Amino acid sequence: MNDKAAAPRRTAKLATPTSLGKDARRDISGALNALLADFFALYVKTKNFHWHVSGPHFRDYHLLLDEQADQLFATTDVIAERVRKVGGTTVRSIGHIGQLQRVLDNNAEYVTPLDMLAELRDDNAQLAQRLRETHGVCDDHGDVATASLIEIWIDEAERRTWFLFEASRAGEAPGR
Ligand SMILES: [Fe+2]
Repeated sequence: MNDKAAAPRRTAKLATPTSLGKDARRDISGALNALLADFFALYVKTKNFHWHVSGPHFRDYHLLLDEQADQLFATTDVIAERVRKVGGTTVRSIGHIGQLQRVLDNNAEYVTPLDMLAELRDDNAQLAQRLRETHGVCDDHGDVATASLIEIWIDEAERRTWFLFEASRAGEAPGR
């Protein structure tokens, strides 16, 4: 058998049985894989800032970012396994994540602490919005289980956004 003929058979081996239709499988897996790439990208960025943050609020920011990174990383496995449960296949490498991620990397040599908090605040707010959009995809296909998980991830993204917003106000002048 040549490679072309073997490919569909190999893919079929990964088609987890599900009562969701073919379109649901494709749409939900696609949306979840993009989210998964975003979670990985935001995890690495949050860790990057955790490692490189400096200044008088070092301890607070360093610990806050570690807590948020842990939460992002913990979610990645749940998203990936959800993709497999609905019969899809998921990301396989850092390169694959790079192709799918919508969160922008920040490779700057130095970022001020307040710029770090502001950037992560916006990234998490955008992530919440993308999660809401994916919730809509799940609703369209009656996938209540994925929708239910997404509701928790939206709340967590909003909590991270809230903490980053409040922490970033430490740099505001009094009376502002
Ligand atoms: Fe650390």
